[in-house]
Amino acid sequence: MAKKLITVLGVTGTQGGSVANRFLAHADWRVRGLTRNPVSAKAKSWASRGVEIVKGDHDDIDSLKAAFQGAHAIFAVTDWAANYARVSEDKTLQDEARGRGGPSRSTQAI
Ligand SMILES: NC(=O)c1ccc[n+]([C@@H]2O[C@H](COP(=O)([O-])OP(=O)(O)OC[C@H]3O[C@@H](n4cnc5c(N)ncnc54)[C@H](OP(=O)(O)O)[C@@H]3O)[C@@H](O)[C@H]2O)c1
Repeated sequence: MAKKLITVLGVTGTQGGSVANRFLAHADWRVRGLTRNPVSAKAKSWASRGVEIVKGDHDDIDSLKAAFQGAHAIFAVTDWAANYARVSEDKTLQDEARGRGGPSRSTQAI
């Protein structure tokens, strides 16, 4: 059976990294991780562990569309404090995630 796919935003960070770790240990899932810098040491480290690293930015809607393609689940973190000034960020992520026709619920680190 084909593995399910989770796309993890912030995979190089603390929150996203913990989610990636958990799903890498699960035989039924594969992990795709988004980063602004695929050649960073952290991104390379994840790639060496089997994470499909893709380049993207929360502000680049096309990169989110590509990163969410085929995903059964999406883990996203946004900077809640910055969102008071940049309220569009979380809405953009959630709109795009719903648009994929897959995940219908979300959780948020605050
Ligand atoms: N750590 C905690 O215990 C905790 C608890 C509660 C809430 N939070 C919140 O959760 C969020 C993440 O926390 P964290 O500790 O995981 O942060 P972190 O370790 O500093 O990592 C931040 C992550 O966000 C990514 N990122 C930042 N700006 C981005 C952008 N414009 N586009 C795409 N990716 C971007 C970075 O990826 P690249 O640099 O590789 O692109 C990196 O993977 C923060 O808003 C924090 O306030 C954290």
